[in-house]
Amino acid sequence: MSEIFRPSIAEIDLSAVQANFLVLRGFVDPAAFFCPMIKANAYGHGDREVANALRIAGARHLGVALIEEGIKLRKNGDREDLLVFGVFSDEVSAQAMIDHELTTVLSDWSQLDALEKVALKSTLKKAKPKVHLKFNTGMNRLGFAIEEAPRLRERFANHSSLELEGVCTHLLRGDDAGVAQGDSQSQFVQFAKVMSAFRGLKVHAHALNSGGTVGVWKRALSQEGLRKEEVGPLGARPGISIYGVQAAADPALAVDLKPVMSLKSRIVLTKKVAKGDVVSYGATWRADRPSLIGVIPFGYADGWARALSNKGSVLCRGQRVPIAGIVCMDYFMVDLTDVADLKAPVQNGEEVVLIGEQKGQRILAEDVAQMTGTIAYEVLTRVSDRVPRRFIGASYEGAAR
Ligand SMILES: Cc1ncc(COP(=O)(O)O)c(C=O)c1O
Repeated sequence: MSEIFRPSIAEIDLSAVQANFLVLRGFVDPAAFFCPMIKANAYGHGDREVANALRIAGARHLGVALIEEGIKLRKNGDREDLLVFGVFSDEVSAQAMIDHELTTVLSDWSQLDALEKVALKSTLKKAKPKVHLKFNTGMNRLGFAIEEAPRLRERFANHSSLELEGVCTHLLRGDDAGVAQGDSQSQFVQFAKVMSAFRGLKVHAHALNSGGTVGVWKRALSQEGLRKEEVGPLGARPGISIYGVQAAADPALAVDLKPVMSLKSRIVLTKKVAKGDVVSYGATWRADRPSLIGVIPFGYADGWARALSNKGSVLCRGQRVPIAGIVCMDYFMVDLTDVADLKAPVQNGEEVVLIGEQKGQRILAEDVAQMTGTIAYEVLTRVSDRVPRRFIGASYEGAAR
């Protein structure tokens, strides 16, 4: 988006990204693998800019879901390690991985076969293509079965055309910090079996998402049946907490994180309505007193959920003002009556904060998620492309795109 006329923006604080990276990095062994996740356009924040900021902060590995996401970062000049966690099975995809020097996270034999075949016939620019093996320890989404670990070890020990750099798994209850039902503990026990199958090979092991990084691993360590030396320094792949969202359900595990995204807009029109007048589609909001209504140009096509209709609130002059009526595609309305300052009523052009801080008041992505029965991941990733991102922070002086 080169020319920007609308007043609605997502402000992305890249210094906060860097600060969160350093906080989370501090939770794992300095020798452990550490791979911030920047898939889905860095959880909606802008992957190129977030990647640049993380590289400056010291991130050696970054993770994406799609080959396309990896290629986009390569085209942006990122030359360091990029892991692609998504599944593919055809040789065209394998070729793209190799051409762009993307590290593949393999989940089954057909992927491994396709990649080896393509690697064998490719003129490689550098060393062998790097791969990580993912194991299914209980999530039942992606990954090899634990029992396949010895066979896989043999395959790599016997002169594969690929370099095995790591083995990993994914926690299904990382956000519960291991307190619920012991799922994470049982996943660690399974993963320890994988690690012992690969003992003696120089491979990284990684398993921890954000919740796992800040809590679950520590707690699991104290559980019977799992000792640190069985798995070595366990690596992490934090996503959501890089963006400032607390991941562990237990408030005792809250960490010093800084929210990265603020959603800001401006009131484009105000209007007085009489008692009994309605606002927006379907007449679901009716004034019970003479009221002042503000129109905000941010709708569900921008990622402001329709489920916030008559429920959510935003900040205006540091006060929470309730959403009045149904959220439309391009707009929603707020009831400004209680912000009425007779000498200086709210004017067109005044700033409103949908997510973020204003005059000491704060609305978090987590608050919006709670109001709409979802999670902060969804609130952040659904901020659509038509909302310009404005990057602030020490490391990147980029303009909005
Ligand atoms: C394989 C993998 N690792 C790590 C993460 C990061 O998880 P979180 O955002 O909960 O930290 C994800 C996200 O879904 C993932 O799919």
